[in-house]
Amino acid sequence: MGDILDVITSRKSIRRFKSDPVPEDVIDKVLEAARWAPTGENYQPWRFVVIRNQETRNKIGDLAKCGSGSRMTAWYCLGHMQERFEKIEDPVKRAEVLRFMYSGEVSEFAKVAPVVIAIAGSLQVGSVDVPYDLSAAIENMLLEAHSLGYGGCWVHGPVASSRDAVKFKKILGIPTAMNAYKVIAYVAIGHALEQRRHPRPKIPLSELVYWEEFGKTTRPKLELKDIVSYEKFEEKGKK
Ligand SMILES: Cc1cc2nc3c(=O)[nH]c(=O)nc-3n(C[C@H](O)[C@H](O)[C@H](O)COP(=O)(O)O)c2cc1C
Repeated sequence: MGDILDVITSRKSIRRFKSDPVPEDVIDKVLEAARWAPTGENYQPWRFVVIRNQETRNKIGDLAKCGSGSRMTAWYCLGHMQERFEKIEDPVKRAEVLRFMYSGEVSEFAKVAPVVIAIAGSLQVGSVDVPYDLSAAIENMLLEAHSLGYGGCWVHGPVASSRDAVKFKKILGIPTAMNAYKVIAYVAIGHALEQRRHPRPKIPLSELVYWEEFGKTTRPKLELKDIVSYEKFEEKGKK
């Protein structure tokens, strides 16, 4: 079996797309990848709505813009946004980036993504695991699209509040009853318009991983005597 770490580490969120359509077989493969994601108790609660219609994508883009805009305006008012982009030295450029973020334009790109795939989780079929199931499916979709040479982005913007989630469902004809479907995002897919600088800064493992106990950063030597063989484990269970 191949190591897919190169696929994983070279993926990046793409928000600017060429207008070329995404071939049908690519869409099918992306959906196929989603179908194979792990899912709590194998419920497979996911349902996918593939959207290419321009008018529908415009509505989703507007909703995502409002959702992201209200969230980021709050961060801007609290000063977090300014902190996040303080490394941009040119004040004009910094102001433009900030405006792009708090206006919500950052999440408007469904309008120019050739394909948008909305992911809805059936709360009747699924369990408490539905949001995790959907997240696993989304990651599979992004990785498959990337491995096929397409760019994609996970967009939570249009479902940032429960009111927006209802609007999102209405746009797509997803039943809006509270206990029917959970919508957590859509995925935009297309040919990347340009190569973005990558990788995005990621926190090194040395700052993320602890060994045996939270906070312990030193990797202990593995003692083979500590490992219980499956046979012994099974034997114990039978007793
Ligand atoms: C749960 C989740 C929600 C996200 N929502 C949005 C969004 O609404 N708009 C957007 O432009 N990007 C969104 N993204 C993409 C992230 O901004 C992106 O993954 C992050 O900045 C890291 O960049 P990278 O994917 O290029 O590594 C979301 C990603 C995740 C996992």
